[in-house]
Amino acid sequence: MSWIRDSSLNWFHLLFVRLLRCGRVPEHVAFIMDGNRRYARKNNVEKLEGHSKGFDKLSEVLQWCLDLGIPEVTVYAFSIENFKRSEEEVNGLMELARGKFKRILLERETLNEHGVKIRVIGNLSLLPPDIRKLVAEVELITKDNNKAVLNVAFSYTAQDEMTYGTNLILNGLANDSISTEDLNLKLFSKCLYTRGSKHPELIIRTSGETRLSDFLLFQGSCSYLYFADVLWPELSAWDLLWAVFKYQHVCQTLDNMAKILQNNNTLSKKGAQFLKSINENHINELHSTVKS
Ligand SMILES: *[C@@H]1O[C@H](CO)[C@@H](O)[C@H](O)[C@H]1NC(C)=O
Ligand SMILES: *[C@@H]1O[C@H](CO)[C@@H](O)[C@H](O)[C@H]1NC(C)=O
Ligand SMILES: *[C@@H]1O[C@H](CO)[C@@H](O)[C@H](O)[C@H]1NC(C)=O
Repeated sequence: MSWIRDSSLNWFHLLFVRLLRCGRVPEHVAFIMDGNRRYARKNNVEKLEGHSKGFDKLSEVLQWCLDLGIPEVTVYAFSIENFKRSEEEVNGLMELARGKFKRILLERETLNEHGVKIRVIGNLSLLPPDIRKLVAEVELITKDNNKAVLNVAFSYTAQDEMTYGTNLILNGLANDSISTEDLNLKLFSKCLYTRGSKHPELIIRTSGETRLSDFLLFQGSCSYLYFADVLWPELSAWDLLWAVFKYQHVCQTLDNMAKILQNNNTLSKKGAQFLKSINENHINELHSTVKS
């Protein structure tokens, strides 16, 4: 199954898409892809088969998002907590991920043609070295694309992300590249794994669970949460269209709330310089990971 596929929307969906596009379409949607294992149990297949179906669904959902005109998508693929699952399942998932990241490298031309940037966000030091390498390569070859962004949260938790951001800032303070006057929420948000992407307006979780499970806790402060009562591999285009429709009904209220909560901070000159240096360091790290 390829990352780039043809649209599976029929004329009736497309009509609805056109209607939705008259209203506000979110610029960033995040998904908690929950229910692969339950799907496997329900259909009497191996757990891994459920995860594999989950990936197929992901590539379909990405295409729907493009059809809707949603330029950025973040998906929760693997939490740091998931390392606690059985060795067999974790190894199986890693093997699946290996295959999918290799597939991206094979499809690099199509991805670049479509202008898709792919970033893997999470604590990469917990991953097997060969996957770390693949992930670094994927990020490097797509980093200059700017039509669509896919963030794959892999080995991710929001708490780990905030620890990472805080450590960057502490280092910056310790080596005098910033001082306490430069600190604000704007600077902090750009030190997170999402590096200052627009915060998601809509977060969708499947499988009927109504928890965030340590996903985008900082970025999701003003997001509309939509809980779909289907397992991830069963998510239909209608579920997504319906979630966007529901979002459109409340987006004005969310906007007003975001305005009140929004930090009106601006980056100081030193802050901006500091961010430039951490971004350069990040790219250098990716290069050395690929070479290692
Ligand atoms: C990533 O995981 C490693 C190993 O558990 C840990 O030492 C490190 O602090 C984590 N990094 C961050 C930024 O949380
Ligand atoms: C930020 O500015 C807006 C518009 O000027 C204002 O309504 C809002 O209260 C400010 N937010 C904070 C946290 O000060
Ligand atoms: C200071 O620390 C930051 C964060 O780790 C790093 O990006 C930057 O390169 C460091 N600057 C110097 C001068 O060491």
